[in-house]
Amino acid sequence: SKITLTVIKADVGGFVGHTDVHPELLEIAKKHLKEKGKMLIDFHVTRVGDDIELIMTHREGIDNEEVHKLAWDALWSCGEKAKELKLYGAGQDLLKDSFSGNIKGLGPGVAEMEIEERKSEPVIIFMADKTEPGAWNLPLYKMFADPFNTVGLAIDPNMHQGFKFEVYDMIGHKKIIFETPEDIYDMLVFIGATGRYCIRRVYTKNNEIAAVSSTQRMNFMAGKYIGKDDPVLIVRCQNGLPAVGEALEPFANPYLVAGWMRGSHNGPMIPVSLEDAVPTRFDGPPRVCALGFQLAEGKLIGPQDFFKDVAFDNAREKALEIADYIRKMGPFEPHRLPLEELEYTTLPHVVEKLQGRWEE
Ligand code: 13P
Ligand code: 13P
Ligand code: MG
Ligand code: MG
Ligand code: MG
Repeated sequence: SKITLTVIKADVGGFVGHTDVHPELLEIAKKHLKEKGKMLIDFHVTRVGDDIELIMTHREGIDNEEVHKLAWDALWSCGEKAKELKLYGAGQDLLKDSFSGNIKGLGPGVAEMEIEERKSEPVIIFMADKTEPGAWNLPLYKMFADPFNTVGLAIDPNMHQGFKFEVYDMIGHKKIIFETPEDIYDMLVFIGATGRYCIRRVYTKNNEIAAVSSTQRMNFMAGKYIGKDDPVLIVRCQNGLPAVGEALEPFANPYLVAGWMRGSHNGPMIPVSLEDAVPTRFDGPPRVCALGFQLAEGKLIGPQDFFKDVAFDNAREKALEIADYIRKMGPFEPHRLPLEELEYTTLPHVVEKLQGRWEE
């Protein structure tokens, strides 16, 4: 029978500020999944920056109420501890008071796929902090559509036909399927606009799921967009899909993403080991971690902490130089995001205060 790989993540309080997760919270999450997760085959709990990541396997399919409730309750218990320890932004991503059928829309991020486990099933869980789901557009494009990144697109007969990309319009709340390589010029018009159009899934041309991201409808509270939803991404590898090294290769160039301080700045995405996933400088720069697992009848064999590799040292060094450079711009665009994309804004107050002082 089919295996479902579910990743659910949330920030339920930072330790200290927005930099890390308190170890007691991770223990609570592990204990909860161990004791209450009877339906799980296996699980792995970790964190990247201030985000708790619950990686779970089971046979219940996607959007399963029990699995979602299990994750919700685990995160809720972590949130209670966060309140007790007065961690920063305790309960931040738990937007509702109670669970109602599906965790989507309640605050946490979700990426899940139901698969027929192959003879060998290597998967990578990418997890980022201090950025948004659109941050996956560029690397997903490179992994699945750019032969200068993924040579398999040119030389592997099982990849040569290309892939299908499901792109979600986060403002219009609608989706479209682009076929690559045929539609790449059309697709790039949209996915280059990372604040609005997000690649939600990638399929083979035979409609096998290859990748899924935690792209949900944007969270609005009282009409205001809250949170850049530090995203996760699941990528299956090898055998007609990108090799593990092809899936990791896009991160060798620290491209710019939106997020960083107060969710309101562009900055370089630094690939780091879990150990180094503690964003402090100007609350960043944005981090990405990649954990590899081999699935074996749903068991998570791993993890392998890929960005530990010294081969990503140059990417890190380059990212730090970019960070030095762009930080000098202070509150000026394009370091600071345009007014309409800020997570925090004083604009309405300042406009009100200056009423009568503007002249024609
Ligand atoms: P190995 O020879 O180490 O198995 O590597 C094969 C390969 O295809 C690497 O991309
Ligand atoms: P998080 O989204 O990781 O909580 O960061 C928010 C922030 O404001 C950082 O400065
Ligand atoms: Mg936080
Ligand atoms: Mg975060
Ligand atoms: Mg965030």
